[in-house]
Amino acid sequence: MAPNQVDTPRTKKVFVKTWGCQMNVYDSTRMQDALEGDGYTPTADIEDADLVLLNTCHIREKAAEKVYSHLGRIRQLKDRRADTERPLTVGVTGCVAQAEGEEIIRREKAVDLVVGPQTYHQLPNIVAKALSDGPQVETEYSVEDKFEHMPLATKKQVRSRGVTAFLTVQEGCDKFCTFCVVPYTRGAEVSRPHAQIIEEAHSLVDAGVQEITLLGQNVNAWHGGGPDGNDMRLGQLLYDLAEINGLNRLRYVTSHPKDMDDGLIQAHRDLDCLMPYLHLPVQSGSDSILKAMNRSHTAQDYVEIIDKVRMARPDVAISGDMIVGFPGETDEDFEATMEIVRRTNYAQCYSFKYSMRPGTPGAEMENQVDEAVKDARLARLQALLRQQQTAFNEACVGKTIDVLLEKPGRDANQLIGRSPWLQSVVIPSHCGHIGDIVSVEITHSLTNSLSAQPAGACN
Ligand code: SAH
Ligand code: SF4
Ligand code: F3S
Repeated sequence: MAPNQVDTPRTKKVFVKTWGCQMNVYDSTRMQDALEGDGYTPTADIEDADLVLLNTCHIREKAAEKVYSHLGRIRQLKDRRADTERPLTVGVTGCVAQAEGEEIIRREKAVDLVVGPQTYHQLPNIVAKALSDGPQVETEYSVEDKFEHMPLATKKQVRSRGVTAFLTVQEGCDKFCTFCVVPYTRGAEVSRPHAQIIEEAHSLVDAGVQEITLLGQNVNAWHGGGPDGNDMRLGQLLYDLAEINGLNRLRYVTSHPKDMDDGLIQAHRDLDCLMPYLHLPVQSGSDSILKAMNRSHTAQDYVEIIDKVRMARPDVAISGDMIVGFPGETDEDFEATMEIVRRTNYAQCYSFKYSMRPGTPGAEMENQVDEAVKDARLARLQALLRQQQTAFNEACVGKTIDVLLEKPGRDANQLIGRSPWLQSVVIPSHCGHIGDIVSVEITHSLTNSLSAQPAGACN
């Protein structure tokens, strides 16, 4: 062995696989950042990793099952490595970790650590402990601690991820919709302090970020003490963030109708940098189903909020989430869902078949809907939503809009950016650089993307 190789230990590598919502995506990057401080560099190749983390989602049955099939495959890799110089350490994080805890290690021996979402700031310690003392389970939580102790990403780390970033401002949920596991996996609603959010936003912008998406399970339930000590809500936070020089675009997700207050709607009217896009799930158009879901709003409440937002910001695109086949949903209830979809006219909307989740009130309800009925309803709903999305995209053709260029396209001569309405837009690469906001004319539309040419001359 060459002498200079003796003293340089190989750097350890971490591979993170992420399922679930944007909050999990944000958490995965923050975990990588925290581990990087501890000598682990990220890798996209699982074969090359010393530590594998599966950041999991528990929202529907399928999402949770995927974790175990994945772990089975990872066990083979771990077995192959067992007696080599590079044993593999395996961790499960996220909402399955929180919901199932020790059960995961009982079911799958390959797992060395199980860490719930509120404990990520302790991750480097937990990994070290698993290596020295054997399997660790850490699901006790205090989200305030996590907010306080997660280090900010360095400039280099932010730069490596591009010109858009997520920023968690609120975590957890107190709403207890009867179908949903989130209040159990993410705990009660906790807002991050105003000053912490402003500090993180500044550091992202200093590192070249142009667009920040504020995250929360109920992001519009965010509230906090402002600099003057008064309680403030999300609308005011958006005005404050809009003051940051160089922060060109703001978004927030996901909102609950109950917390869609007038201050937030006004921010949509006043702030150019707040993108004209609102993700506001309603779940169903039937009042009796909304009641059984414990949504604490009616279909009419939702329609009125959408009307107000459209009045404040006429070009706003509305997005949502729908569930079909909640226990007790009749044909009539489902028709009411189709009706609210027609009335809202979504630019984009996610739709799901109700999935029974252990521990939630919905799972105890007796009038579960037949799987075949759910399938048929979902197919009809999705056909309508596809029509609306296609129509929204087609209406963009011929318009001149601003696009933030985010990444290279599939062909070398293309770049991909985002419209204000979150559509992917493909443009010729000679018309700008990643990080530029360019004015383009939309020339073609597809269901999931648009293509465009520069609006003026480009060189
Ligand atoms: N806090 C957000 C998002 C919650 S999870 C909100 O309130 O909108 C994202 C979506 O998953 C939900 O909006 C809902 O449409 C869907 N979902 C949650 N639990 C589900 C279940 N048990 N079965 C099917 N879909 C579910
Ligand atoms: Fe789940 Fe309802 Fe909370 Fe959203 S508001 S996370 S759907 S319980
Ligand atoms: Fe899934 Fe947890 Fe997000 S259950 S949707 S990863 S909050």
